[in-house]
Amino acid sequence: MRLAVLSRNRNLHSIRRLIQEAGRLGVRLDTINPMECQIIVDGRESRLVVGNQELPEYDAVLPRIGASITSYGLAVVKQFEAMGIRTVNSAEAIAQSRDKFRALQLLNAEGVRVPKTILTRSARSLRSIPKSCGGMPVILKLLKGTQGVGVMLLHTQASFQSVVETLWEFGEDVFLQEFLKESAGRDYRAFVVGDKVVAAMLRTAAEGEFRSNIHRGGEGTLVKLPASYRRAAIRAARVMGLEVAGVDLMESRAGPVVIEVNSSPGFEGIERATGLNIAGQIIAHMIKLARKKGR
Ligand SMILES: Nc1ncnc2c1ncn2[C@@H]1O[C@H](COP(=O)(O)OP(=O)(O)O)[C@@H](O)[C@H]1O
Ligand SMILES: [Mg+2]
Repeated sequence: MRLAVLSRNRNLHSIRRLIQEAGRLGVRLDTINPMECQIIVDGRESRLVVGNQELPEYDAVLPRIGASITSYGLAVVKQFEAMGIRTVNSAEAIAQSRDKFRALQLLNAEGVRVPKTILTRSARSLRSIPKSCGGMPVILKLLKGTQGVGVMLLHTQASFQSVVETLWEFGEDVFLQEFLKESAGRDYRAFVVGDKVVAAMLRTAAEGEFRSNIHRGGEGTLVKLPASYRRAAIRAARVMGLEVAGVDLMESRAGPVVIEVNSSPGFEGIERATGLNIAGQIIAHMIKLARKKGR
């Protein structure tokens, strides 16, 4: 059996952990830099080449595509799929979860609860929409953003309006979201592999910060996720078509709401916070898929 992980940087903690766990489970895991891959289509066939070498036939490939290379990275993932290689996650699932608003639309359509959110491009609507989103303060998000960057909290109508107009001017689409006051500064990160939550942590934002991302100084602690949260996380990953997902959930008056679904969730922070072996669960899942395919 031969597995591969697509990543730009083999020295990342997550990649080192995956290689370590693959070794422990007795399988080979190659690291392929997607930016070194060439895709050749010539009207008859299509091939994937690294340097001047054809890649071996992998049993499963794990794409870890950073936000900065989404478009090129997804072309590479699509090529693996075109060659009949099983990808975990698929290019389509990654693409639709990268656009945060598209993800909320899909979740909402499938009955997964999300916060009240408004996407607009109408300057005339700016006056009235904060009120329909629960009033000030409001959350403003870029369609694409990660690690807390691109998520803003605005306290006045004047700051809201000026920030939105500035971002539009720079060609950025943004959406407005109700600020979940009840649980501000706290959220759950559920790590889903296959159809199970393999680890969950409660993240608490640093003093004076509303974003609880670990990269923004948030602190993670092991929690037993309440059953309603676990169900929402599994459902959200399934709706997005993700087999490996980091689902962010917050508490609202009506119960759990899904804030975001990440397709390449890091696991350094959550392995440290929970003491659980997430890398091993991912490799075990890939092995299971590869065996199924072989049958
Ligand atoms: N509607 C909201 N109300 C209150 N806090 C929020 C809301 N949305 C996001 N946050 C906070 O901001 C953090 C980052 O938001 P998220 O949408 O997950 O973006 P990112 O992709 O940058 O992690 C969340 O983990 C949460 O702590
Ligand atoms: Mg998040």
